Amino acid sequence: MSKIILVTGGAGYIGSHTVLQLLLGGYKAVVVDNLDNSSDVSIKRVKELAREYVNNLSFHQVDLRDRPAIEKIFAQTKFEAVIHFAGLKAVGESVSEPLLYHDNNVIGTVILLEVMSAHGCKNLIFSSSATVYGWPKEVPCTEEFPLTAVNPYGRTKCHLIISDMVGQLFVEEICRDLHNSDSKWKIILLRYFNPVGAHPSGHIGEDPRGTPNNLMPFVQQVAVGRRSALTVFGNDYSTKDGTGVRDYIHVVDLADGHIAALRKLSDPKIGCEVYNLGTGKGTSVLEMVSAFEKASGKKIPLKIVGRRPGDAEVVYASTKKAETELKWKAKYGIEEICRDQWNWASKNPYGYGSSHSK
Ligand code: NAD
Ligand code: UFG
Repeated sequence: MSKIILVTGGAGYIGSHTVLQLLLGGYKAVVVDNLDNSSDVSIKRVKELAREYVNNLSFHQVDLRDRPAIEKIFAQTKFEAVIHFAGLKAVGESVSEPLLYHDNNVIGTVILLEVMSAHGCKNLIFSSSATVYGWPKEVPCTEEFPLTAVNPYGRTKCHLIISDMVGQLFVEEICRDLHNSDSKWKIILLRYFNPVGAHPSGHIGEDPRGTPNNLMPFVQQVAVGRRSALTVFGNDYSTKDGTGVRDYIHVVDLADGHIAALRKLSDPKIGCEVYNLGTGKGTSVLEMVSAFEKASGKKIPLKIVGRRPGDAEVVYASTKKAETELKWKAKYGIEEICRDQWNWASKNPYGYGSSHSK
């Protein structure tokens, strides 16, 4: 019998790629997503790509904070585990709309955990972020590094207590507390570095609403003619070419990391564990642009401006713990990332809204 996994936020960028890998890996997936930052076209595309496994996917357009609707889904199905992607993630908006972010990301998670507990489902994988490392003092970042968070988005991903909200715990911390209170909870917190690229088919990929906040979606929109130039935030860092350095991980590798984490949940020794999901390699903005130009044959005009507030200089992962304990390692490098990003972009220049896309 296939194990059934509940995937919150499964219509989104990382969620849709993970759902596909789950289906191809023989799991059944039930997706809950309010489509706030996604489209149900991604679900249709995943079904097409899943071929003979198509009937192993079902979708509910539901908000996590709609407790009765979430209760109903748990009453209907016994889940092996929950992979929890649902959350808002725009850093700038998290500064201007902090209550929206805490309501959606923290309260939504608490409701999910309460319903899971009530239904005896105590296996969880949570999407955390390298943003919790802030501006690391050294690299590579290991899971033991002290956590900092410079904006409300980051705080909902880590264990800092905001001074005026003493007692209010945030999601990583909530998970640790939950496990400490009841060792039946098995929780894996995955700290993603910079997810980029798209499924090699070019049928699913990232489709941000409005102006992209992140590097690669912006580059891709310049390449298809939607924007005139890439704004490079700072070329005066102490890095190889002065631009910021990050650990870019192919989204399919990231999705496979979730399958590895699911397997790890059945290890009787697992409690509440944190793993970095990255490649361990740092790439600068200019190196990324040059790799994308090579893959696409498109020139990306650049406009160099000052540093973006809150940006770290160099962030990349130590991958040792994930390699040793999850037996998982990223397979793709920046060439494949840019190839697949361009394949997605050229087939879907306006994302899932592209008129000529399938
Ligand atoms: P995404 O916006 O594409 O996907 C998130 C999905 O969650 C969307 O489909 C959205 O509609 C849904 N959602 C949001 N709030 C919801 C709610 N209350 N109820 C139901 N559905 C809701 O984002 P993504 O890039 O796929 O990221 C997935 C997760 O990984 C997020 O939690 C994000 O914070 C985290 N993460 C992302 C990155 C990144 O760079 N993409 C890095 C680190 C961590
Ligand atoms: N950059 C530009 N121009 C842009 C966008 C980005 O020069 O238009 C630069 C940034 O300054 C940085 C690098 O490209 O040096 C990467 O920036 P991103 O915004 O793509 O990624 P960040 O590392 O800043 O943050 C991302 C996500 C966070 C997540 C973090 C770690 O936005 O949500 O990775 O996973 F938490």
